[in-house]
Amino acid sequence: MPNSTRSNFWVPGGPTELPARLRSSILDLKDGKLFFMDALLGVDLAEEDPHLKAPEGYNAAQQVHIHQGDYEGRAVIVSWLTQEEPGDSKVYYGQVQGEEKTTFVTGETYSYSFYNYTSGFLHHAVISGLEFDTKYFYTLGSGNITREFWFTTPPESKLDTSYTFGVIGDLGQTADSLSTLEHYMNGSGQALLFVGDLSYADFYPYHDNNRWDTWCRLIEPSAAYQPWIWTAGNHELDFLPEYGETIPFKPYTHRFHVPFRASNSTSSLWYSIKRGPATIIVLSSYSAFGMYTPQYRWLEAALRNVDRTVTPWLIVLMHAPFYNTHSEHYYEGEPMRVIFEPFFVEYKVDIVFAGHVHAYERTYPVSNVKYDIQNGQCTPEVNGTAPVYVVIGDGGNIEGLSSPSTRPQANFSAFREESFGHGVFEIQNYTHALFAWHRNQDGVKVAADSAVILNQFFS
Ligand SMILES: [Fe+2]
Repeated sequence: MPNSTRSNFWVPGGPTELPARLRSSILDLKDGKLFFMDALLGVDLAEEDPHLKAPEGYNAAQQVHIHQGDYEGRAVIVSWLTQEEPGDSKVYYGQVQGEEKTTFVTGETYSYSFYNYTSGFLHHAVISGLEFDTKYFYTLGSGNITREFWFTTPPESKLDTSYTFGVIGDLGQTADSLSTLEHYMNGSGQALLFVGDLSYADFYPYHDNNRWDTWCRLIEPSAAYQPWIWTAGNHELDFLPEYGETIPFKPYTHRFHVPFRASNSTSSLWYSIKRGPATIIVLSSYSAFGMYTPQYRWLEAALRNVDRTVTPWLIVLMHAPFYNTHSEHYYEGEPMRVIFEPFFVEYKVDIVFAGHVHAYERTYPVSNVKYDIQNGQCTPEVNGTAPVYVVIGDGGNIEGLSSPSTRPQANFSAFREESFGHGVFEIQNYTHALFAWHRNQDGVKVAADSAVILNQFFS
């Protein structure tokens, strides 16, 4: 198996005697003996690793990342942290590199505590009124420790526009995570669709939030230059009531700001943006989604408002997948599928990206909307008029790869593999897109799996 050295050994008594950390890597039952793979577990990069280190200089801006700041794509949220003092929270920006800039916006500064941890000063500043398809440079800090970055705004949304999204999930901060990140940065992605489970700080005692800081430094080389479109996963819950931490998503919502109000959402955990030829809908697997709930009502309205002649592509992001043939997290997404899948079919969603399962899997267009408890028709139907579902929770985190898949392979499953990697969704025009999955062990240009995705609305 790539990216890990497998060593199998027998465990008397079976999985119930295993520590929780190892239980997730059960391999197989062979000759009446239970084998599992200890080496499938990842190891986080040391805090001293150069990729996790803070930049030099007193109060230097660190952990810089950006997000689209409005619904249309003409605003950017710049987020960063200063450790020693709040500083002035200003972002200077302009179209000329290196030039001293006079135009600026001032952000808002936050801090939060989590058990025995207190964060540095978290800044979020919104730059708005930007031109489409334009490169901007921005500067953070003052004196001799200013740091300059850049981003390019998306093209204006219209029918025949091309744009390339990257897709990563369940990244963590291991050597495999770094490999995924570096491969992605060597590719052509212009914005990243991130499908949840970010730092895995909750793997540490008291969910050591210093590991949120190291993770935000790890991703800065990409996330400071292009938006990472966030989706919350279960590792963002950070729910630790026995230590007084009773507010779910506390570190996540303090560190990552998204323009949820711009799409009439009442929560940063579900929202929508237009970006070039696509409308992206982000859902929360860990918030209420039943009929009448805020997320349900919002999704119904958000889908109704999409104009496919302006954004021909409709992409949905979530963490727990609807379709997954790996034994890990099998059917965890089923309750939400029952509620939301009819919307996806009715509104002709093109592709759904999810994470959670630490493997890659792509389905054929598939639906299971005919099921009800009386008719018993619960077999997913492969047909051309339903979304393609992609599981891509194989970013490379400390929990390692998924257990092997269920057998036989379900008829709706087109390709699946337990390897670390990332995806690229290249929208070529209003009818055709190309999805490719890149394994980390292959060269950057090699696609281990690829498929032409036909637009559901126009095909
Ligand atoms: Fe997860």
